[in-house]
Amino acid sequence: MTSKLLFRHTNLVTMTEATGFGEIMDGALAVRDGKICWLGRDSELPKDAKADHEIDGGGAWLTPGLVDCHTHLVWAGNRADEFERRLNGESYQSIAATGGGIRSTVRTTRAASHEDLFAHSAPRLKDLIREGVTTVEIKSGYGLDLDTELKMLSVAKRLGETHNVRVEGTYLGAHAVPWEFEGRSDDYVRMIRHDHLPQVRASGLATSVDAFCESIAFNSSQVRKILSDAKRLGFNVKLHADQLSDSGSAGLIAEMGGLSADHVEYASEASVRAMSSASTVAVLLPGAYYSLHESHKPPVESFRRGKVSMAVATDCNPGTSPCSSLLLMVNMACVLFGLTPSEALAGTTRCAAQALGLADRIGRLEVGLEADLALFDIDHPRDIAANIGANRCVASWRAGSQLHSGGT
Ligand code: NIG
Ligand code: FE
Repeated sequence: MTSKLLFRHTNLVTMTEATGFGEIMDGALAVRDGKICWLGRDSELPKDAKADHEIDGGGAWLTPGLVDCHTHLVWAGNRADEFERRLNGESYQSIAATGGGIRSTVRTTRAASHEDLFAHSAPRLKDLIREGVTTVEIKSGYGLDLDTELKMLSVAKRLGETHNVRVEGTYLGAHAVPWEFEGRSDDYVRMIRHDHLPQVRASGLATSVDAFCESIAFNSSQVRKILSDAKRLGFNVKLHADQLSDSGSAGLIAEMGGLSADHVEYASEASVRAMSSASTVAVLLPGAYYSLHESHKPPVESFRRGKVSMAVATDCNPGTSPCSSLLLMVNMACVLFGLTPSEALAGTTRCAAQALGLADRIGRLEVGLEADLALFDIDHPRDIAANIGANRCVASWRAGSQLHSGGT
């Protein structure tokens, strides 16, 4: 057996089982043509195994490359003033109503050049890469006009290409009603449906369409129209659902066959049942919950009962979750929402891949899947969840090519 890359004496965190880490102690893993071609106990490695490059893990732990399946990572400007305002008692909704919030970032993002937007966003992507992240979903939604939405998505694509990270673009035109459509949200929805969606599709810059279903954004009927059109055009669909109140939107996206319902703090039992029947993933975003001082937790126990896959993501954005640490989210998903360490790691590997429709390519250590890998210098995979703010990722690979190599 000849391979390009061979890990030996490395503990493997396969994440292939529905529960637990799927550990293989003192394992070996071989990579050919960017894919995993063999894995198992080191002692069972075929005698004729040869590789261009061999790495002795020395007892370190190899996990699937981490997947951040919900980010708004591309933006310009800064909203730390809103952080201060919220500490002084103002709510996210009241700040949004007075010209702050999403619209404030829309102003700065519209004004930024492609180059400035790239330079402003790249450090956030680098933060994620240093933690072993190899796939990132990036949404538009701070442009709301077609030119800026496409500018954001092309910056996202270029970020992926220049950093060797897999980037999945998502069009989020229905993030907020832009001021030029004040009081005319139905007209804006019409523009999204007839103008934006076909052009975003033609650009090839996004594989999914998302929307924000909430009283401060779009109602269920508007969301249904946008996402039905998106599906007809061949996009995957997903939704910012039941974040601040129960609008039944997690159920709505499940009925539409959506990949994921995201936030879901207020999702009802009926919505959980719909998600369970449709295999819609619940994407938990503890950073936004924490920043907004939310107290209503997502219904984790109901998700477990209904066998709803739970993903965990940063929601990296300038307002509700200025966070570019997925490892911190793993910890917070355990402490704030009660996930077990293996559930939280599944949330950033196997289930996050499912939330992006990529479960047949990434998210597990399995023969035939892409060799997206992260190496951690830890005693046990549960350490990844237990550590607060410590990054023990020492290297990562994307499709077998080295991505991160300690210290950089
Ligand atoms: O996921 N909820 C809507 N969108 C973002 C917040 C965006 C912002 O405040 O800029 C979120 O929390
Ligand atoms: Fe979000």
